[in-house]
Amino acid sequence: MLELLLLKQTDLEIDSINLSDPWGPSRHWSCGRRSQLTISGLRPNRSWIHKSSCWNDDGVRRKDKANQPGGGKLNDLEEYFLKNSGHRTVKWKHYLEIYDRYFSRFRGTEVHLLEIGVFDGGSLQMWKSYFGPKARIYGVDVDPNCKQLEEEQISIFIGDQSDERFLSYLAKTLPRIDILIDDGGHKMKEQIATFRVLFPHIDKQGIYVCEDLHTSYWRKFGGGFRKRGTFIEYSKGFIDSIHAWHSKEPRKLAVSDLTRSIYSLHYYDSLFVIEKRPMEPPSPITSGCPTLDRSRKPSSLRRLVRSINSRLK
Ligand SMILES: C[S@@+](CC[C@H](N)C(=O)[O-])C[C@H]1O[C@@H](n2cnc3c(N)ncnc32)[C@H](O)[C@@H]1O
Repeated sequence: MLELLLLKQTDLEIDSINLSDPWGPSRHWSCGRRSQLTISGLRPNRSWIHKSSCWNDDGVRRKDKANQPGGGKLNDLEEYFLKNSGHRTVKWKHYLEIYDRYFSRFRGTEVHLLEIGVFDGGSLQMWKSYFGPKARIYGVDVDPNCKQLEEEQISIFIGDQSDERFLSYLAKTLPRIDILIDDGGHKMKEQIATFRVLFPHIDKQGIYVCEDLHTSYWRKFGGGFRKRGTFIEYSKGFIDSIHAWHSKEPRKLAVSDLTRSIYSLHYYDSLFVIEKRPMEPPSPITSGCPTLDRSRKPSSLRRLVRSINSRLK
């Protein structure tokens, strides 16, 4: 099922791991300068990790991590990933730092996390370990076999993320969603349907993450550069939405639920993070004393500049 090919590149670059179709016949994943990491409890093979330039045997960061905030110390997700002996999970290496940046505030709380795309259940176990015993982890997958991966704190729902009725059922059934991670089929219709139906149900202080945005550039997934209907193009509209308070063309751009509920939008390579927060119309503020005398007429100002310039010559 899984073919690995580790290609040594230059010292600064990252080894490549080609995962030939790990999730089904239609998916082929190949990595360029980035590296996608897999750890499987079923087939532990630590050489996959050892050959990555990010981590060595002791879990010490190498060159490519040394310049990042944190000074080379592994965060807890990176530690977990390195030592995982549970179910297999597949992530792009750089995601782990980004998750920690947004998710750490939920650790130790009764966080409700929904991940679309279960695969072998390894990421659900990772979330359980990271967030702690109060966390409630929900997984969604179209593959009915995934139901077997349920365990304490982890519930799994079988359904298709492009099916809006199924998504509405989820919204009604789950007590709360603080964090949603879309790591399912990565097709445009799937990502957009999931956002449309579930974003309004994310807690008002919650986080929405869409993974593997690069499929927006891949035809096989319905993508293409600047092609209408890709998730990337769709999400560019959110930039307009958060600025709608300032719109002078209300028929084209008006304050919406997105304007009132999105605090920030963060794009990384292949990863999109939205932070929710109840938003009020922005208010300008000022402090300090007036510094420049603006009572002079422009003509006298011009005269002043001319006389200064002539003295400087
Ligand atoms: C990228 S893998 C998930 C990896 C997992 N989140 C991890 O980090 O280890 C994608 C999963 O999404 C599932 N999937 C594909 N299309 C789907 C759809 N339309 N609805 C729900 N799940 C889907 C696949 O069966 C597969 O298990």
